[in-house]
Amino acid sequence: MLLLKTSQKIRAAQGTDAALGNLTQFEYLALSSPLNLSDGHARQSLTPGQAEVVEALPLLWATAAANPIEETEAAAKRAYFRLLGQHSFPTARGRVLSCYSSSVAMEILARSLATRTDAVALLHPTFDNIPDLLLGAGLRLLPLAEEALHDGDLDQELLRAVGCVFVTTPNNPTGRVLSQERLRALAEQCAEHDVVLALDTSFRGFDPAAHYDHYAVLEDSGCRWVVIEDTGKLWPTQELKIGWLVSSADVGLPLGRVYSDILLGVSPLVMMLVQRFSEDAARGGLDALHRFVAGNRALVRGDLADVADVGFPDAESRVSVERIDVGRRPGLEVWSALRDHNVHVLPCQKFHWAAPSEGDHLLRIALSRKSAAVASAVSTLRQVLTGG
Ligand SMILES: Cc1ncc(COP(=O)(O)O)c(C=O)c1O
Repeated sequence: MLLLKTSQKIRAAQGTDAALGNLTQFEYLALSSPLNLSDGHARQSLTPGQAEVVEALPLLWATAAANPIEETEAAAKRAYFRLLGQHSFPTARGRVLSCYSSSVAMEILARSLATRTDAVALLHPTFDNIPDLLLGAGLRLLPLAEEALHDGDLDQELLRAVGCVFVTTPNNPTGRVLSQERLRALAEQCAEHDVVLALDTSFRGFDPAAHYDHYAVLEDSGCRWVVIEDTGKLWPTQELKIGWLVSSADVGLPLGRVYSDILLGVSPLVMMLVQRFSEDAARGGLDALHRFVAGNRALVRGDLADVADVGFPDAESRVSVERIDVGRRPGLEVWSALRDHNVHVLPCQKFHWAAPSEGDHLLRIALSRKSAAVASAVSTLRQVLTGG
């Protein structure tokens, strides 16, 4: 009974899909459910070290109010960028713009790019708010397949056709990380073609393979570059987060002006919170987080290991989301059956923004959740998949 078989139900699910414009709209449906494994935001419990930071909030508030914002901001940047190995991050004024979230940083980048170019080569698949924001700014998108990105040099014709190459690394949903060698080669190609290289590194914190010093590589290459960093995926901070919009000195885009169209700055209280969470992570919290995510991933893979025709396409992934290949079953049908049990995951079509059918048999499940919630959701998924 659990795996819905009637064409009526499938049509209903497809109707929902058509009505829902994007992945975030699927994520809204899950927000109030205790079994929300839909969005990639961190919703696990605070660790004891993090709970101490939260208990100190009144003190942080007073400190934030008393200190010059510039100092508070510099301390937050130092703590976060160094935690993740980004020692060569720029410190000159205007080079790291603090935004309310990475989507706000993305909107500023998209609007800025639209003043200088009409086309962007964008990783495929990737989280759909990236193509949506670029399209919203009036840009044309050319898909850059993940395999092509990792396998070798980009097609010269593609580079001649665009003003920017945009890569998410580690990627959401696949977890693939651009290696240091590939970043160097890509940045050199972008320099040669005078194309801006833009990176979204929102999931960087989860994978040590993404902790080499990207800024040293980018600066060495001589290309024009932009990086969006995001504190929002790592820690359960109740959506208090920063998206950092980082750029090369000669980026040639009006980032500062567009930024000033949208915001004055991020709350210094949030900056202090990011600084303290980063310091806790440096004292062992990051390793503990990696173990926690790996534990939840092992739980998902273990519980579904013997289910026929089910697989995990991202064997190497360390990010806080996991894709599940549900075989011949339509992903949307499984998603709908889970929803009937109040379990929320994401169907994957919309990650494949240029070829949605490539995601027809894939689901994405969030791992930054309490292990008990992951276990319970996966047990329901198992029943749905086995018709038990
Ligand atoms: C790769 C990537 N970039 C940016 C975002 C947007 O993050 P936010 O909603 O915090 O702005 C997401 C959201 O999941 C994401 O996966």
